[in-house]
Amino acid sequence: MKIELAIGDIARTRVDMVVVNLFEGVKTPGGATGAVDKAIGGAVSAAVRDGDFRGKWGETLLLRPAKGVAAPRVLVVGLGPREKLTPDRVRQAALPAVRTAKKLKLSSVASVLHGAGAGGLDPADASRFAALGAALANYEYDRYKSEKGSRLARYTIVERPGGPVARIREGLAAGARLGEAINWARDLVASPPADLRPDGLARAARGVAAGLGRTAARKVRVRVYGKREIEALGMGGILAVGKGSEVPPRLIVAEYRGGRPAGPWTALVGKGVTFDTGGISLKKWEGMEKMKYDMAGGAGMLAAVRAAASLGIRRNVVAVVPAVENMPSGTAYRPGDVLRMMSGKTVEVLSTDAEGRLILADAIAYAIRRYRPAAVVDAATLTGACVVALGSIAMGMMGNDEALLARMKEASAASGERAWPLPLFEEYSEQIKSDVADIKNIGGPEAGAITGGCFLKEFAGDVPWVHLDIAGVAWMEKEKMGYAPGPTGAPVRLVVEYLTRRGRGAA
Ligand code: BES
Ligand code: ZN
Ligand code: ZN
Repeated sequence: MKIELAIGDIARTRVDMVVVNLFEGVKTPGGATGAVDKAIGGAVSAAVRDGDFRGKWGETLLLRPAKGVAAPRVLVVGLGPREKLTPDRVRQAALPAVRTAKKLKLSSVASVLHGAGAGGLDPADASRFAALGAALANYEYDRYKSEKGSRLARYTIVERPGGPVARIREGLAAGARLGEAINWARDLVASPPADLRPDGLARAARGVAAGLGRTAARKVRVRVYGKREIEALGMGGILAVGKGSEVPPRLIVAEYRGGRPAGPWTALVGKGVTFDTGGISLKKWEGMEKMKYDMAGGAGMLAAVRAAASLGIRRNVVAVVPAVENMPSGTAYRPGDVLRMMSGKTVEVLSTDAEGRLILADAIAYAIRRYRPAAVVDAATLTGACVVALGSIAMGMMGNDEALLARMKEASAASGERAWPLPLFEEYSEQIKSDVADIKNIGGPEAGAITGGCFLKEFAGDVPWVHLDIAGVAWMEKEKMGYAPGPTGAPVRLVVEYLTRRGRGAA
């Protein structure tokens, strides 16, 4: 989809549908909405007066004015109370508009920029989130549908002359790039597990910079390590989890050198379990199909590298993604096995279904040994317990460094992608003590998201590290918070916002 800026009068824009907006409680619309309302004989204000439309958050009104506007359709989007409008709500507001356009099989939409006028948002932010929202809303996984979904070809933001045109244009381009990278990840997450096994994830990763243009692509380098190299590195966690599958594990390393040549690295570690059956500790059948999304952290971290390159973020970033398939078989690892990890620590396996932490532990150790990063961020669909704790509204966030946690909190607020802290008090670590090895891979029924974090902490050492448990937010069961059902692309927006901020100076 082309996302572009047009300067002029939205009432005269020739497209399949124009989109204007209304804040809740406004009786006489102003700005572009007011102009369109006048042009079509007051149909919007009449709907407000009669109570057909109140401008409530998420509410829409579709009109087919006979004359007055060049487009055959006018959609009014409710923005809710003015004081509640945030940049992320601008993203969310794109979903009902684009969904309507897709349902009607339209190819072009022109919209006002929500929030930049009376909404009081910075036009650069408003335009970035508007473009992001449009790109995300236009996405659909229809690979296996005989009847393909309809897609918008063009999405135009219309501004009156004299506005901050350059900043809006820049914002739109940035939002579109971020949205494109996120959709790249969503395709991987939505893929059926037989289509995307560890070799397939590695193949996709090799194309992480595809289509980005020469200057961006030149700064990206992808390496994939196979079973023999993983053995040579002593990665007992990755090897054990991968043992039950016919497809051996891979370790994917994607570098983006956007910073100074000798500048610090930020390591992004993502869980890449292409399918999680639970292994010998087999999961029950209900909902197991969803475990194809157990590589969402890995896909997300690769997409963050894609976005960083596409946006030209001035940081050196490396994504490290261990890719495995967790299967039960005669060659699978077992409860009771003791593993020697890359770091040298030994781990007693109590459940082969707590596999994510085993592969991440080796990936974190590798990232630290090989890159000496200034910070490590990991993302994983790690625990059902995190879904119980925070639902699908916020991801869990844990770490060993207050300054890094504070930075992530700021990035979360700015990006609108919610991350909420859970504590790693040292008493919790008692729960993962083992009688036969240094630690065990589960910590019992209490505080399951936290004991997952405690396990990973053992491998971060004194390097500043945060862990994002995205089990609840990487996949939406139904439409919510401006996401269509399916993969959301979490935590790419948060991580890219964090990288952008660090790119502006701080080490
Ligand atoms: N991939 C799952 C986590 C998960 C479970 C995500 C349900 C979304 C919904 C992970 O590998 C897992 O199975 N974790 C176990 C850990 C337990 C055995 C300590 C879990 O959460 O049940
Ligand atoms: Zn599992
Ligand atoms: Zn898993």
